[in-house]
Amino acid sequence: MEIQSVYLHYQPSNKLSLWIFLLILFLTGASISNSQTLQDGIYTEAQAERGAEDYSARCASCHSIDLRGNSNSPSLIGLSFMFIWEGRSLGELFTKMSEEMPTEDPGSLTQQSYAAILAYILRSNEFPSGETDLASNAEALAGIQITSQ
Ligand code: HEC
Repeated sequence: MEIQSVYLHYQPSNKLSLWIFLLILFLTGASISNSQTLQDGIYTEAQAERGAEDYSARCASCHSIDLRGNSNSPSLIGLSFMFIWEGRSLGELFTKMSEEMPTEDPGSLTQQSYAAILAYILRSNEFPSGETDLASNAEALAGIQITSQ
């Protein structure tokens, strides 16, 4: 009888700590799954296709059709690109493109078009495509870090 009353006495606080534990588990789990990486398929094939068209019309004249650049314009693929951009965020890259490119007419494309070109650049760097389009604003892309595979 005495043991049972002790048990009854402690049970509510045990339940409370269980709930706190589950809540913490849930919150850490949720925050981990919220931070996307370039390996998560963060653009669609269709978006990259649109980006390829805009790229060849508006960017290829300087950065070349294979994205390797030339003596005046930097490469947008491979090691030299990663050397500059690794560790920085996709939001930063989006801002750089959408505010400074093309150099002769900065910011002249739509935000959607810059996002599509960014999707094309990701595809050209062999990052996987997925089910949802890449967002077309820097804030939404700020949490995604550029990492090599
Ligand atoms: C008239 C030539 C020209 C055109 C057209 C042009 N760029 Fe550039 N781009 C440059 C030059 C020169 C640089 C290097 C100077 C700088 O970073 O501002 C550069 C730099 C960049 C960078 C930074 C690369 C790095 O590693 O620092 C990105 C990204 C970029 N361009 C994307 C684009 C995109 C996307 C387009 C098409 C919308 C475009 N550029 C059109 C000349 C051009």
